[in-house]
Amino acid sequence: MGRTWVSGRGGIARKLSRREFLKVGGAGLAGAAILGSSGCGGGQGGGAEEIVFSFFPDPSGSVQALIDRFNEENEVQVRLREMPADSGQHFDQLNTEFQSGEINIDVIGGDVIWPAQFAANGFIADLSDRFTEDERGAFLPAPIEANTYEGRIYGVPWYTDAGMLYYRRDLLEAAGFSRPPGTWDELKQQARAVQEQAGTRYGYVFQGAEYEGGVVNALEYIWNSGGDVLEGEDQVVIDSPEARRGLEIQRSMVSEGVAPEGVSQYKEQESATLFLSGEAVFMRNVPRMYALASDPAESNIDPGQIGIAALPVAEEGLQSYSSLGGWNLFMNANARDPDAAYEFIRFMSDPEQQKFRSIEGSVLPSRQELYEDEDVLQNVRVAELGQDAIQNTRPRPVSPFYSDMSLRMAEQFIQSLRGDIPPEEALATLQGQLEEVIEQGRQQRA
Ligand code: GLC
Repeated sequence: MGRTWVSGRGGIARKLSRREFLKVGGAGLAGAAILGSSGCGGGQGGGAEEIVFSFFPDPSGSVQALIDRFNEENEVQVRLREMPADSGQHFDQLNTEFQSGEINIDVIGGDVIWPAQFAANGFIADLSDRFTEDERGAFLPAPIEANTYEGRIYGVPWYTDAGMLYYRRDLLEAAGFSRPPGTWDELKQQARAVQEQAGTRYGYVFQGAEYEGGVVNALEYIWNSGGDVLEGEDQVVIDSPEARRGLEIQRSMVSEGVAPEGVSQYKEQESATLFLSGEAVFMRNVPRMYALASDPAESNIDPGQIGIAALPVAEEGLQSYSSLGGWNLFMNANARDPDAAYEFIRFMSDPEQQKFRSIEGSVLPSRQELYEDEDVLQNVRVAELGQDAIQNTRPRPVSPFYSDMSLRMAEQFIQSLRGDIPPEEALATLQGQLEEVIEQGRQQRA
C-alpha cells in the first residue's frame, strides 16, 4: 500500500502536507551538523553511508515520512527494512540473523518483550552511556523498566501500547447502556442486547491466534481474574484457580457465541477489519487501530462511533490490567556506525517526531511531557479515551527466556480457547513447562 494519510482529523498532518512537514525540519538541522561530522566518514564504526532500520509494516506511512525527513537533514541515509507484522515471526527472523552473524540491520524497532533476551545474548548494544539516567526520566517508567536488563538500558522507548476495549458507543447508547461494561458478564449482556436490537453480527472480537498477541490476550483474561504467571523473578504460579477462571471466561466467549469461532485465528488486523466494518459490538485491540477508523478505505464506521475503555474484569472489585506493549529503538551491538545509529534513535524518539507519529499513526508517545501537550491531547484521541487502560499496564514476564515461555503459552492457550482441552489441563501443563524453560535456561547460562 502506498502512503495513506489518515483523513478527516485535525492536527499536524491536516495542516501540513508531507512536503511541508519535511521543510519544517529547520529545528532539526542542528542534528544534521552533528551527524555530518560523526555520521559520515568520522564515526566509530568506519562511517557508513547508509544505516538500516527495521520495523514492521506501517499503513499510516508516518514511519517512512520521518525517515525521509531524517534523510533530508543528514548525510547518512537511513533505509527502512520491512519485517513481519507478527511479533513472534519478527523476533525469529532477527534472532536467526543475529545468530548467523549475518545481519544488515543497525537500528531495530523492536517489541518491549525482547530486550532481556537480546541483551543477555549480546545482540543489542548497552545504551547506558548514551541514554543517560537524566534523559530516561523524561520517559514513562514502565517502558524504561522493560528496556532495562541487569541494571543497564538497552533500548529507547519509542511508543507504548496497552490493550484496550473498543466499543460501539452509538450502538450501546441506542440500546440504553450509558457506560461500557466493567465485567466480562456485563460485556456479554450488553453484546447480546445490542446484537438483538441492531443485528450486529458478533458480540466481541479479540486476538486468539497462536502467536504473541494470543498470549497477550489470554494473559489479560488471567490477570483480570486475579491470576499471574510468575511470582518474583522466576517462581511459576500459573496453575491457580484465578488463572483457570480467566481461561474459562475466554473460552466462554466462544462457547456462548459472544465471539465467533474464528477468533482463534484472529490477530490484530483481522479483529480490526471486522470491528471497523461494523460487524462487532466490542473489540480488544491496540491504539494504532483507532487511526484506521478515520480512513474510509479501511472503515465503515467513523471515530465518533467508537468508545474506548479499560478491559473488563472477572468480577467487580478486581483491578483491570492491560498488557504493556510497545516498540523501542535498539541498536545492533555490531552496528556499522554506532554514532549515526544513535543519532537516528535520538531523532525518532525526540518529542517532535513522537508527536508527529502519535498524531498520524495513533500510537501512544513514550515521553511523559507529550501527555500534557495540547496538540497531542486534541489530536491523539486514543490517548485521552484510553486513559484508564494506559494507566494500568502490566508487563509480561521480563526474562531472557521469554520467547520460549511465550511459545509454550501460545500452544496451551489456543487449545483451551478452542475447547480442545479444559483450561485446568492447559494450566497444569504450562506450570511444568514454564518451570522447565526457566530451569534449562538457567543451566545453559551458568
Ligand atoms: C503489540 C504490542 C506488542 C505485542 C504485540 C502482540 O504490537 O505493542 O508488545 O507483543 O502487540 O501482538
